[in-house]
Amino acid sequence: MSPPTLDALIDERRVVLCVGCGGVGKTTVAAALALAGARRGKRVLCLTIDPARRLANSLGLDRMTGEAQRVEPGLFQRAGLDVHGSLTVMMLDTKRTFDELVTRHASSDAARDKILNNRLYQYVSTSLAGTQEYMAMEKLLSVKQDSHYDLIVLDTPPTSNALDFLDAPERITQAIDSAAMRWFIQAFESSGKFSLNLVAKSVALVLRGIGKLTGGGFLEQMAEFITELNDLFGGFKTRAAEVSKAFRSSEFAYVLVTSPAPMAIREVLFFADRLQEQGMPRDAFVVNRVHRAPRSVASEDEVQAALREHGIELEAGAAARLVRAVSEEQSLAELDHAHLSRLDGALADNPDGRAPTRVNIPALPSDVHDISTLAGISRLLAPGA
Ligand SMILES: Nc1ncnc2c1ncn2[C@@H]1O[C@H](COP(=O)(O)OP(=O)(O)OP(=O)(O)O)[C@@H](O)[C@H]1O
Ligand SMILES: [Mg+2]
Repeated sequence: MSPPTLDALIDERRVVLCVGCGGVGKTTVAAALALAGARRGKRVLCLTIDPARRLANSLGLDRMTGEAQRVEPGLFQRAGLDVHGSLTVMMLDTKRTFDELVTRHASSDAARDKILNNRLYQYVSTSLAGTQEYMAMEKLLSVKQDSHYDLIVLDTPPTSNALDFLDAPERITQAIDSAAMRWFIQAFESSGKFSLNLVAKSVALVLRGIGKLTGGGFLEQMAEFITELNDLFGGFKTRAAEVSKAFRSSEFAYVLVTSPAPMAIREVLFFADRLQEQGMPRDAFVVNRVHRAPRSVASEDEVQAALREHGIELEAGAAARLVRAVSEEQSLAELDHAHLSRLDGALADNPDGRAPTRVNIPALPSDVHDISTLAGISRLLAPGA
């Protein structure tokens, strides 16, 4: 039986989301899947979050930006890769996406400028919990309308709490439209004129969350800002519902990325359960950085004999170090195998009767810093016909 692959997902879905906890390899897997799409002739957009510079470099880019950047086709040719499609990469720019959203929903140019120029907006659009997750979704929905792309691969933020990602639209509208904020507006409106003392005491909670934004006219600015943002709430809330619906459509695929580390497996399983509860499919699991068991572990005598036979001379102690390295690799492979049996157990117990695909990627000796390594990962994930 041939090993499982993500070929079907790449061929059939429009949007593939890579999710998982921090540092497991989401961005690498997203880029490799995007390359797999381009190898099959698709026009692919890979929307990444905070990619390692080495990954950008491996795609021939100095760095990734909020602009769409097409990977130069010559790069693929020089690496001996047959790429019929195209690969475009773009980094999520949270603030810029939020600005576009405000621009789209504001009732007038004046209302838009008032919000964009407000100091508090700087906080909400960059640092409010959940903003990055929500904007990733917004960006995804807007590029999904773009007929230039056949396939969009989305890398997601490294959220320690997986729920941040799924609940982002709801959470952000709640955060902005919180009881404290509502009270604040009421206090402001009913006093007719701004009663600094009264308001200052009671919004301490809100201010604490916002941090050290101080200075002249701060509270007035805040009240004004919230009142204006309130006008947008209608738009935002409808939008959150739309986002929510789109993420449950059959165009979307969810690829859960993990490492064999017990903590990462625990988190990915928790996340998989949440996906299922929320009516989203868990299409595939990618286990990254798996140690492969060596074919055999030779004794030091056997290594010495083989070295003599082939006329190879090594420095003193090298044979012993070699044997130790191979047996360490063996132990790591056994450990990974034991940890992954927990994942297998959970995957076997699949209430919807459809077992998700699982693909392993080996732990490589170094990070992913060139197109050939990325192509290697891409072939493991989706070798194609
Ligand atoms: N199979 C692998 N073998 C060796 N190194 C790897 C492998 N996969 C990824 N890496 C390296 O590990 C580092 C982290 O990978 P990556 O940036 O893809 O993780 P991430 O899940 O996106 O992280 P974050 O949660 O911080 O966004 C990178 O330097 C990458 O090149
Ligand atoms: Mg990443």
